[in-house]
Amino acid sequence: MEIVEEIRKLRKERGAVILAHNYQRGEVQDVADYTGDSLELARRAATVEADVIVFCGVYFMAETAAILNPTKTVLIPDPTAGCPMADMITGEQLRAFKAKHPGAMAVCYVNSTAEVKAECDLCVTSGNAERVMATVPRDREVIFVPDQHLGGHIAEGEGRTYLLWPGYCPTHARLTAKAIADARKAHPGAPVLVHPECPKDVRDAADERLSTGGMCRYARESSARTILVGTEVGILHRLKTENPDKTFIPVSESLVCPNMKKTTLENLAESLREMKTRVVVPEGIAVRARRAIEAMLAIR
Ligand code: 13P
Ligand code: SF4
Repeated sequence: MEIVEEIRKLRKERGAVILAHNYQRGEVQDVADYTGDSLELARRAATVEADVIVFCGVYFMAETAAILNPTKTVLIPDPTAGCPMADMITGEQLRAFKAKHPGAMAVCYVNSTAEVKAECDLCVTSGNAERVMATVPRDREVIFVPDQHLGGHIAEGEGRTYLLWPGYCPTHARLTAKAIADARKAHPGAPVLVHPECPKDVRDAADERLSTGGMCRYARESSARTILVGTEVGILHRLKTENPDKTFIPVSESLVCPNMKKTTLENLAESLREMKTRVVVPEGIAVRARRAIEAMLAIR
């Protein structure tokens, strides 16, 4: 394919590395140097040696890369690829929430803006939330933003109460417990994996609640031949490519994140050709946001 050749040529000329989230279009994942979940991509972005990082994902992910590796040029092919959940709380709203609960620790899901991260003590991803929160003393009150469902999931596991912001992922909100029951009927015995961004009744109806990276690991290690997948459908490309001998069935075909689909081979090529759009986080915000992200990355 001509465009793939052009991307490869431009990547070399620019000294760029292409990072892609597991929800990206299959053809974008195929041309990327590395595909992963939010945690894996943040770790990769922090240590990349290339001068340019092209981030195929949504805006907060590119911001995280720019915060972690400020001397690099971070590009996003479509700067309008936002995360509606990340935009459900502003820095000002978080400051007001914190003012009502002085002494509480402020924790953000990585799916948040740099401005919100700057207000937080600690950041988590769906891939490390339990591990990271286990380091927070049990008697400490915790504010968790913006995802009520991931927050609820961690709180349930710990048995402590979190002060949750009512944000949610509009894509995962479309998955229902009925869709899981129907999929189980159609494929008896197949394990059901869902993302912890799903509502509680959906999480309860599943066998495993995993980050996208966790799903990739589960798929590799499981002896199940058929696996039912309850998350954004972009992950099926990677699951099928890495496990050609297994069958992966989406619990619902409607789980498409429109923002994750905004990156195409065309705008990826354009991004490299024209070196756009650069993601820059103002230093005053970056310094504070970096503390919350690095505190998370320090916990293995
Ligand atoms: P993970 O890939 O970290 O599981 O996150 C899912 C997601 O919704 C990213 O926007
Ligand atoms: Fe945001 Fe949900 Fe899309 Fe992830 S899948 S980027 S949480 S809207």
